[in-house]
Amino acid sequence: MTAEPEALAAPDPVAGEAHRLHRALGPSSLIMIGIGEIIGAGIFVIAGTAAAQHAGPAVLISFALAGVGCLFAGLCYAEFASLIPESGSSYTYAYATMGRFMAWFIGWNMVLEYLVSASTVAVGWSGYFVSLLQNLGVPFPAAFSNAPIAGPGFAELHMTGAIVNLPAIALIVLLTVVLLIGVRESARFNNVLVAIKTGIILLVIVFGLPHVSGANLTPLIPPNTGQWGHFGLSGILAASGLIFFAFIGFESVSVAAQEARDPKRDLPIGILGSLAICTVLYVLVAIVLTGITDWRKLDVPDPMAFAVGQVGALHWLVLPVDVAALAGLATVTFVSLYGQSRIFYAMARDGFLPSIFAAVHPEFQTPFQGTLVTAIAAAALAAIFPLDILADLVSIGTLIAFISVCAGVMILRLTAPDVPRPFHTPWVWVVAPLGVFTCGLMMFSLSNATWTRLILWSAIGIAIYFFYGRHRAPAWKWRVT
Ligand code: ALA
Repeated sequence: MTAEPEALAAPDPVAGEAHRLHRALGPSSLIMIGIGEIIGAGIFVIAGTAAAQHAGPAVLISFALAGVGCLFAGLCYAEFASLIPESGSSYTYAYATMGRFMAWFIGWNMVLEYLVSASTVAVGWSGYFVSLLQNLGVPFPAAFSNAPIAGPGFAELHMTGAIVNLPAIALIVLLTVVLLIGVRESARFNNVLVAIKTGIILLVIVFGLPHVSGANLTPLIPPNTGQWGHFGLSGILAASGLIFFAFIGFESVSVAAQEARDPKRDLPIGILGSLAICTVLYVLVAIVLTGITDWRKLDVPDPMAFAVGQVGALHWLVLPVDVAALAGLATVTFVSLYGQSRIFYAMARDGFLPSIFAAVHPEFQTPFQGTLVTAIAAAALAAIFPLDILADLVSIGTLIAFISVCAGVMILRLTAPDVPRPFHTPWVWVVAPLGVFTCGLMMFSLSNATWTRLILWSAIGIAIYFFYGRHRAPAWKWRVT
């Protein structure tokens, strides 16, 4: 990779020792980061709704479909990650291929993918936490565990009577303390939680599979009710749109590029490895969920705990599943906070944001102030908004990033065909357009209210760009030639 003269000449506002991150992560930690970010509300909460309302037992096909869609994007991410092993993920790749404006646009919308994701899953965690307390006979006041604002569109937003979501704030505060202490400690903490959630999911699969009954899985594809998205083939598609949320996060491995020991080799392993492991686990969990109980009953906030609770011999798994959900949702929140602070780091390094976002703590070697600002913003959103509003924003922001990466990989094949690529996206002229197409389809299936929020958010971002970033960031950076 070489840089254009203009990029070399561009001022680096944050060069120097005080802005350097620590290379502490090997391939297994990177896979763990991926799994940490992937397995969360999607499998522990949304899978039940997808089965009960849209696909029935065919939800396992929806999982496979969404996984294949993400694989297209994952293969493109892997090529970029091996080629440009810098912090910032799709933001940095957009900078390398499409220049300053698109870099800012993608980086700004990645706030939806990471920061808002941290808030979303913290809200989900709060729900599980309160229900676990209730199961243990400890009540928690609803006014302090729910969103004070709710409603689908702007016109319908209303006050719910609740005051603040305290458990969600507490989770973000706790995770931020660990993040500030150091990347090695953070990775260790993440590894423990990932081991807990993955281990318990494996228990559900191993002990659940023998109880799967053919009767529950028949018919595999329940007939369509006459309404689009309600069972039948369209139901499988609608469910895969919902299930997409469950896969978000494999690309977060690329965010850790500057803290990886051998990024060119290990980032593709981390991205594709975590995606493959989670896809297999998801399909198996889907078979167990719909095979051990009547899928029509799965539209509950805790479908996995509910399903194992329906089988006498699996009753002992209810509490471990609750613990796995708490660990799972905590790791997603954790890696989202981590990812956002590193994306802000990259954007500040390039001049788009004030340099405090790129300042690294001399002792802990983490972007201290940037992490704090991220956490405060995430806690504020989690304190006042409900899960559904936040989750749709996460999906739309993520899909924009995926599309930009699939497009960017094609642009780079044209503009820099000869640059050595440690990882090649196979069949790039098929895989990348399919990635753009599938992600585009999923974007257009999201609600009008979500599109309105996206347009408003983008307009604010574009205004900031013209007042600030355009005058400070170089026109091109990380340009591959
Ligand atoms: N994939 C993540 C989850 O399911 C965002 O929570």
